[in-house]
Amino acid sequence: MKINIHKLKNNEDIPYSLLLLADETVEAINKYIFDSEIYVLENENDMIGVYALLFLDKDSAEIKNIAVDEKFQNKGFGKMMLKDASNRAKERGCKNIFIATADAGIKQLYIYQKAGYEMDKILKNVILDNYPEPIFENGIQLKHMVLLKKELS
Ligand code: COA
Repeated sequence: MKINIHKLKNNEDIPYSLLLLADETVEAINKYIFDSEIYVLENENDMIGVYALLFLDKDSAEIKNIAVDEKFQNKGFGKMMLKDASNRAKERGCKNIFIATADAGIKQLYIYQKAGYEMDKILKNVILDNYPEPIFENGIQLKHMVLLKKELS
């Protein structure tokens, strides 16, 4: 396996099919993607993962989207990209990095906390108010977003 993570080049297409694993619609993705830096994870030249990093201010960045091709999930690539994002934010002088997930995103909440993120805020009803159709994960209807924060020391 030959893995590399690199910033998406200007001549490369935005990998919407991967980004859509983590977000409901292209319209939702387009609200942040053009302001974000996009990093892709390649396995032998195949793109199997992506994350979008948005610098909020001089101290903070947020991972706005992170996704691994379904065939390659649960092999450690998500954790690898979380680490890569933290390293890049830290190198750029950020003191904090944020990530948000849905209230019933059990796996995501597990991975993020294991990677050193702590729950910071609950954004009440954000999912209920912003999506026309009910969305379920792990058999639970998604309602709120949980914002998690990691201090980069
Ligand atoms: N509940 C709790 N933990 C679970 C789980 C579940 N249902 N399913 C798997 N896990 C654990 C695994 O045991 C492993 O933990 P361990 O390292 O302690 O053994 C960990 O989750 C998997 O880590 P990793 O292999 O690095 O994750 P990944 O490569 O699958 O990437 C995501 C994680 C979330 C990026 C990926 O699953 C994905 O693309 N999901 C769809 C898009 C998405 O939801 N993105 C996040 C939006 S907030």
